[in-house]
Amino acid sequence: MKSISASLLILLFFTYCKPEEVKIIEFDFKVFKLELPNTWRKIERNGIDSFVGELTDGNDSIYFDYGRYSSDFKHEDDLTQLFSKEKVNGKKAIITKPTNYGKGLVGILFKKANHKNKFVLAGRNLKNEEIVLEAFKTIVFEDSEKDTIPIKFNFNGDFNPNIGRNLFMQNCASCHHPSKYGTGPSIKSMDLISMKKWILDSTETKRTETIADKFYHQKKFNQYLSEEDLMKIIDHCE
Ligand code: HEC
Repeated sequence: MKSISASLLILLFFTYCKPEEVKIIEFDFKVFKLELPNTWRKIERNGIDSFVGELTDGNDSIYFDYGRYSSDFKHEDDLTQLFSKEKVNGKKAIITKPTNYGKGLVGILFKKANHKNKFVLAGRNLKNEEIVLEAFKTIVFEDSEKDTIPIKFNFNGDFNPNIGRNLFMQNCASCHHPSKYGTGPSIKSMDLISMKKWILDSTETKRTETIADKFYHQKKFNQYLSEEDLMKIIDHCE
């Protein structure tokens, strides 16, 4: 009798107190959309120059920033963070997660989200990193092309955005701005072919007089910058 009433109680519990089914739903922020379980909710805020807000499930919170001057991962330590460079629904993104689960930043950065805006979505010390990383794969902007094959983030250590940035800062930044004309043209406006001619090609070493001519570039950088390094510099400046 005792055991019957116990099973009855369990049955009643599951009939009437059945936990809400967790579904994946779309969160629409107009300029972007993403998918998360329905245990999450959104909080929109007004930024000064950008559109900012938060998504939370009560345990974990992630914050977004969409605008011209949105921050990036430049202060993230590459000893404690892993990075991946992937296209998400047709747009180039940098994704980061901590080396030690739950201890650091889980984030995605689109340097060119759309309309010259950057987009960052990130949260620190998350209890469930997988849910957030999966949500990153569903991010679409107005002009994104939804991927048909599954997106995979590759955190194998091959990509580290700090290398390109450091190479640029140490060698080029004093005269070249990433995107504006400075002492010299912006790196963004240069192509790899002109880069190679100016830096890697040592066949043309005709001496000219100005400080920052081709000869200066070749003499200064030819010895220790490789094509791969230049790719990393361009990658950083894009
Ligand atoms: C001391 C200042 C200085 C530094 C440092 C410097 N540049 Fe330049 N660079 C210039 C100037 C000035 C020009 C424009 C020269 C001209 O047009 O005659 C130039 C031109 C170039 C050009 C040719 C652009 C074009 O298509 O006409 C390339 C490529 C270039 N720089 C790449 C680099 C890279 C990459 C670095 C870092 C590894 C670097 N430069 C560091 C001053 C500098």
